[in-house]
Amino acid sequence: QQAHYSLHIIWGSWGQQHCVSGYCVTLNEGEVTVEAGLCVVIPCSYRTGDGFTPKHIAWYKCEVSEPRCGDPIMIFHTNNSIKVQSGFKGRVSFLEPELSQNNCSIFINKLKQSDSGSYHLRVIGELNGKPDGFSFSPRVTVYVKVLNTQNLKPTVMIPTLTEGQQATLTCTAPGLCSGSVPEITWTWRGAGGIESYITGNSTDYKTENLTDVTQSPVSTLTFNPSAKHHNTNVTCKVSFTGETITEETSTLNVNYLKEVKISGVTRVKEHESLNLTCSVESFPLSLIRWSRLTLILNLKFIFIPNSQFTLFYDLAFLFTGLSNIQNGSGCVLQSQVLTCVCIIEGFPLPTIQWLPLKNNTEYSVITAVSNDTVNSTVSLNVEKHGNITLECVSNNGNEEAKEKFTIHNNSKKYGICFQINTF
Ligand SMILES: *[C@@H]1O[C@H](CO)[C@@H](O)[C@H](O)[C@H]1NC(C)=O
Ligand SMILES: *[C@@H]1O[C@H](CO)[C@@H](O)[C@H](O)[C@H]1NC(C)=O
Ligand SMILES: *[C@@H]1O[C@H](CO)[C@@H](O)[C@H](O)[C@H]1NC(C)=O
Ligand SMILES: *[C@@H]1O[C@H](CO)[C@@H](O)[C@H](O)[C@H]1NC(C)=O
Ligand SMILES: *[C@@H]1O[C@H](CO)[C@@H](O)[C@H](O)[C@H]1NC(C)=O
Ligand SMILES: *[C@@H]1O[C@H](CO)[C@@H](O)[C@H](O)[C@H]1NC(C)=O
Ligand SMILES: *[C@@H]1O[C@H](CO)[C@@H](O)[C@H](O)[C@H]1NC(C)=O
Ligand SMILES: *[C@@H]1O[C@H](CO)[C@@H](O)[C@H](O)[C@H]1NC(C)=O
Repeated sequence: QQAHYSLHIIWGSWGQQHCVSGYCVTLNEGEVTVEAGLCVVIPCSYRTGDGFTPKHIAWYKCEVSEPRCGDPIMIFHTNNSIKVQSGFKGRVSFLEPELSQNNCSIFINKLKQSDSGSYHLRVIGELNGKPDGFSFSPRVTVYVKVLNTQNLKPTVMIPTLTEGQQATLTCTAPGLCSGSVPEITWTWRGAGGIESYITGNSTDYKTENLTDVTQSPVSTLTFNPSAKHHNTNVTCKVSFTGETITEETSTLNVNYLKEVKISGVTRVKEHESLNLTCSVESFPLSLIRWSRLTLILNLKFIFIPNSQFTLFYDLAFLFTGLSNIQNGSGCVLQSQVLTCVCIIEGFPLPTIQWLPLKNNTEYSVITAVSNDTVNSTVSLNVEKHGNITLECVSNNGNEEAKEKFTIHNNSKKYGICFQINTF
């Protein structure tokens, strides 16, 4: 690809027209300061005297220290067969190839500090049919100074990165007038400080036209961001003909959310304190909300065997999630009839099942629904049964909550099993 890249192209400004015997040249006689590695355009137009037919144009360079320019060196000739000073070979081009346009502007590429000097024009042709030439005395002085790579930093564009969503980073290199495409590489520095090539799938290369002679090379990197890329640095390195390397480093922020974990002891005894930790690793920081976290359910369990005997139990239940067993749930056993109430709050409204009630069990269930609460009451005669374990299972599609009641019918000892469910 043959093109001149530059964001830093210097266009000399137009100067005054100078004429001698009908030979006129217009160029900027001032000084142009350019950084090494960049390029310069010397704008120029000319006119020749009567009887002169231009055939070729040549440009010469003199040392600034030599005002009389006793020893000019040819840096450009429109006749390719004529050898120019080797150091300039291939670096100078004519902007307007059509001589009849009287346009003598040249473009000097890959400037070196030794290119500093004053430049002037010569037209070669025929005067009244005889070979002739004319050197114009006005000169353009070009100073080439050391390149400041700070001016050449590439620009890295990073979109919002979200884990699992393919993203494309863009690095736009400032063009040097190198005529060759600079090499752009992406590196990634992870947590261990180890630099590696980012495992992106493609590094596309394209150029964007800025003006006719300037293009800006762009490299894109498409990859799948993940949490491991968060807070790491990605560097776009641009190397111009191997000599000049500039780079830009950006820190990646990846939006991600790792698994939510609840830790701590989820089984507690009455009056013990419950200490649970909800942790989630994310960027940006997550808001943690405990949803209907802890409900202390004062479950009154009244057991009345032959001898009147009543016990009260305070039990702690923990439910997380959307379903929630509410205060007022519990069982009463009276005259062999066990009545259990299960009140569940939830959105969407949960369904309540009593397990493991079988078809051969005589029982009745009354279910009442109000707002976001379902109230289910089961009554059964326990005379015919030994130990009974009843479980109130609620499910609203999102969460399941269970409450287990065990009634030991043939002994004065009984227990209440409960389980703490964390979902
Ligand atoms: C270019 O220069 C060569 C060598 O001096 C000469 O032979 C040739 O005729 C020139 N070409 C033109 C188009 O002037
Ligand atoms: C000379 O040619 C160049 C390139 O085509 C153009 O940018 C410039 O304006 C021309 N100059 C004049 C005086 O026509
Ligand atoms: C590479 O990235 C392009 C998008 O730039 C995507 O269409 C393609 O599927 C990706 N290929 C692989 C192998 O990931
Ligand atoms: C860029 O410039 C080149 C040369 O002037 C031209 O051929 C090409 O079509 C331009 N591309 C765009 C996208 O303008
Ligand atoms: C990323 O770059 C910043 C600033 O340049 C630096 O403070 C940080 O330590 C770098 N991080 C890594 C992982 O190299
Ligand atoms: C709760 O548990 C966490 C983690 O084990 C511990 O750091 C914290 O001190 C505990 N808090 C109390 C009040 O016991
Ligand atoms: C549950 O109900 C009992 C008695 O009806 C009451 O004393 C207690 O404060 C209630 N607890 C909650 C958490 O509402
Ligand atoms: C109970 O009976 C109903 C119909 O009377 C039947 O659909 C259901 O499958 C039975 N359940 C069991 C556990 O036998």
